[in-house]
Amino acid sequence: VAATPVVVAIDGPSGTGKSSTSKAVAARMGMRYLDTGAQYRAITWWMLHAGVDIDDPRAVAAAAGKPSIVSGTDPLAPSITIDGTDVAAPIRGERVTGAVSAVSAVPEVRTLITDLQRSIAAEADGGIVVEGRDIGTTVLPDADVKIFLTASPEVRAARRSAEVSGRAGAPAAGGADVAATQAALLRRDAADSGRKTSPLAKAGDATEVDTSELTLEQVIECVVTLIEERGRR
Ligand code: DC
Repeated sequence: VAATPVVVAIDGPSGTGKSSTSKAVAARMGMRYLDTGAQYRAITWWMLHAGVDIDDPRAVAAAAGKPSIVSGTDPLAPSITIDGTDVAAPIRGERVTGAVSAVSAVPEVRTLITDLQRSIAAEADGGIVVEGRDIGTTVLPDADVKIFLTASPEVRAARRSAEVSGRAGAPAAGGADVAATQAALLRRDAADSGRKTSPLAKAGDATEVDTSELTLEQVIECVVTLIEERGRR
């Protein structure tokens, strides 16, 4: 592996295996891990909690600087707190998932969270895997390795449904649930790709990996190989 710390950017839409892949790669290579989606989810949770009208971009912008987000970057035990409250569980709920695209489209929110992400990456000795939507394009354009994960809408919806129904207390997903998940997922991706500020996009110099036909282990192997190749250059 590279002698100098490596910065790896992993972007792509939801349900492509970004989180599972990023965590596993970071753990395997002794690197830190940052889930940037969790940060946007945390600020969204806080806004909902504080009664901010998330459909009013000016209200969201005015509140954006108030809470303080702390991300733990151990890939084996990632954590996130906002103003000291552990929000790892509630940020995965439907309410936050339905609201996060609107909040994360507000430029003031993006500026604050982007600055936070850059400082976390700069302080990570030993390298870091950063996953998100705009890491390779905007947050860390000089990342050593850039990966863009994709998968067909059907595969992504099936993975997301399995993930949601795998949580404690959740009912098993039937066909209708998968269809509803797919619709919600495509809506969120369209919002994330269509926003003006720093949309979901593949960087020109990113390597695209279509994960539709790959197992998680195969995707991990592929990313590890790309990082090792970069280290040899
Ligand atoms: O990866 P995720 O589903 O937890 O991300 C939640 C939302 O956060 C996603 O719908 C868009 C937004 N997001 C973003 O705008 N930029 C990022 N770098 C990461 C996530």
